Amino acid sequence: MDKKILVVFYSRTGTTKKIAQEIANALSCDMEEIIDKKDRSGVRGFMSGGKDAMKRNLTEINNIEKDPSNYDIIVIGTPVWAANMTPAIRTYISKYKDSFKNVAFFCATGGTGIERTLIEMEVLCGKKPVATFSVTSRQMKSEIYPGFNEFIETIRNWSKQ
Ligand SMILES: Cc1cc2nc3c(=O)[nH]c(=O)nc-3n(C[C@H](O)[C@H](O)[C@H](O)COP(=O)(O)O)c2cc1C
Repeated sequence: MDKKILVVFYSRTGTTKKIAQEIANALSCDMEEIIDKKDRSGVRGFMSGGKDAMKRNLTEINNIEKDPSNYDIIVIGTPVWAANMTPAIRTYISKYKDSFKNVAFFCATGGTGIERTLIEMEVLCGKKPVATFSVTSRQMKSEIYPGFNEFIETIRNWSKQ
C-alpha cells in the first residue's frame, strides 16, 4: 500500500509555496501551510526574519490542521534565511518532530546556504531525509528545476516499498 505523504511549508513571498504545490500535485498528497504570526513584511520584517533565523529563534505559528503522526513521511519546505531554515519551520519541527516517522526536505534560496540549511533541518529532526531538493531564484525564473523529478521519484519509489 502506498504511504501517506504530507507536504508542509512556510513561504514569505510565494516561491516555496509554488514548489510545495508542485510537489503536492506530483505526489497527489496533502499540504499544510505554516503561518508565522510575527509580521515578516517589508524591510522590518526582512531584518527581523534574518536576525531570528540567524539566532535560531522560535516564533509563534498558526494551529496546524493536519496531524503529522497520521502520515508516513513529512516533506518540509522552507526558504533559506541567513543560511538557515526560517523561524516558522524551526518552530514547526521543534513542536512536532517526535511524531515524524520519516522526512524529506526542500528549500528555496537566492543561491547560498542550501547545504547548511538542509543539515540544520536534519539535525533538528534527528532523522536523515529520504530525499532533498533545492531551487534558486534564477532557476525559478527560468522555470527549470534541476533535481525536481529525481526528488519526486525518490519519494514515490520509497512510498511504494
Ligand atoms: C530574511 C531573509 C534572509 C535571506 N537569506 C538568504 C540567504 O542567506 N541566502 C540566500 O541565498 N537567499 C536568502 N534569502 C532569499 C530567499 O531565500 C529567497 O528569495 C527565497 O526564494 C524566498 O522564498 P519565499 O518566496 O518562499 O519566501 C533571504 C530572504 C529573506 C527574506
